[in-house]
Amino acid sequence: MKVLIIGSGGREHAIGWKIAQSNLLTRLYFAPGNPGTASLGTNIPIDPLDFEELKTFAIELGLDMMIVGPEQPLVEGVFDFFANDPLLANVKVIGPSRKAAQLEGSKEYAKQFMQRHNIPTAAYQSFDEVSYPGGCLFIDSLKPPYVLKADGLAAGKGVLILNDADEAKSALHEMLVDKKFGKASNKVVIEEFLQGVELSVFVLTDGKDYVILPEAKDYKRIGEEDTGPNTGGMGSVSPVSFASIRFMAKVEERIIKPTIEGLRKEGMRYQGFIFFGLMNVSDEPYVIEYNVRMGDPETQSVMMRIKNDLLKGLIHTASGTLSEFKIRIDSRAVATVVMVAGGYPDSYSKGNIISGLDSDFSENSMVFHAGTAFDKHNNIVTNGGRVLSVSSYGKHLIDSILFSYKTLKKISFDKAYYRRDIGRDLVSKR
Ligand code: AMP
Ligand code: GLY
Repeated sequence: MKVLIIGSGGREHAIGWKIAQSNLLTRLYFAPGNPGTASLGTNIPIDPLDFEELKTFAIELGLDMMIVGPEQPLVEGVFDFFANDPLLANVKVIGPSRKAAQLEGSKEYAKQFMQRHNIPTAAYQSFDEVSYPGGCLFIDSLKPPYVLKADGLAAGKGVLILNDADEAKSALHEMLVDKKFGKASNKVVIEEFLQGVELSVFVLTDGKDYVILPEAKDYKRIGEEDTGPNTGGMGSVSPVSFASIRFMAKVEERIIKPTIEGLRKEGMRYQGFIFFGLMNVSDEPYVIEYNVRMGDPETQSVMMRIKNDLLKGLIHTASGTLSEFKIRIDSRAVATVVMVAGGYPDSYSKGNIISGLDSDFSENSMVFHAGTAFDKHNNIVTNGGRVLSVSSYGKHLIDSILFSYKTLKKISFDKAYYRRDIGRDLVSKR
């Protein structure tokens, strides 16, 4: 099979690494990819939002499958663009339809969907510019902290959590009236604060059946001990000790099943990954958000724990025969630590040479590229905030963490930064 993976982050490198192991694969392409993916296949300089270019490439190559990594092309309807074009009838696209992608594209849409299907989530109301005064009254009716979410895609920056009611009201004003996030904050969801620990749960679905992938925990804040601003994700681990069999059974019954059933009943086509961002509140699961794709850097840990041929699973996903695919999960733990450019998530420099990438790493470790590029001398240099990540297997979580840090120490660039406490909170509870 000829497969194209859309995107250029650590997530796409990890998916590519997994797919490259399949003996069903003949050619692997990435659009646009990064220097890491270039070692697995061919990088094609196509913008993931340029559907016409993707179409031309798919037809020229006789592409069999396109796996969409990031959310934006999905929310903008790349699935439907391919599904509705007879010239692209042979290309299996892994992802949701545009309508189903609204589960990530609009927080209000996701909330309404959860309400319709009785899926546990924080109580909420949504407001627009006209109903701004009502939003202030709603804030007064809640206990702090206050959670404000821009309705649309805001590159992970659209959620504000504030302790003070007046601050929350002025933040609401900035979002609704001053359009802080542009169109994405035309509407704002205000919701109850959930106190608990977060967990990322992933499924692969063909729209009828589903397969639960290894769960993961993501470390979102820039600083150790979960301090400082939110980032795209500074590390991840899998498995997660508090995701017990009992807890996961609740997740499956109360969240996964009604979500898949809801999609089916509402006629929303979905053949791809669903990422449930959950909060464990005193052992009861609540949905914080849906994402219609895999998470980054969770994918790096998750892919390493899948033992089967994932490409086979994706073929079943696209053919509606996922019930025939049984997942096998590696009993080892994986810890992923992200190395970022100093200054991230604010401003940072690019173009710094990365050294140590050709070191002799432990066979337990994988280096996944994200914000990297080739310079004109073919050196690999930094080209983004999250530069690369290291993921390692270990018999126990502590071993995987130690392997990842050992490998990271061999890689360096000017002003590199990484958290030194990834997974530490879960080790003591092992
Ligand atoms: P999101 O972009 O929806 O993932 O939200 C970003 C982060 O805000 C989440 O990862 C949580 O840490 C936090 N968050 C979102 N909603 C809530 C909530 N209702 N209660 C507590 N924390 C929340
Ligand atoms: N790691 C969180 C995300 O991918 O949205």
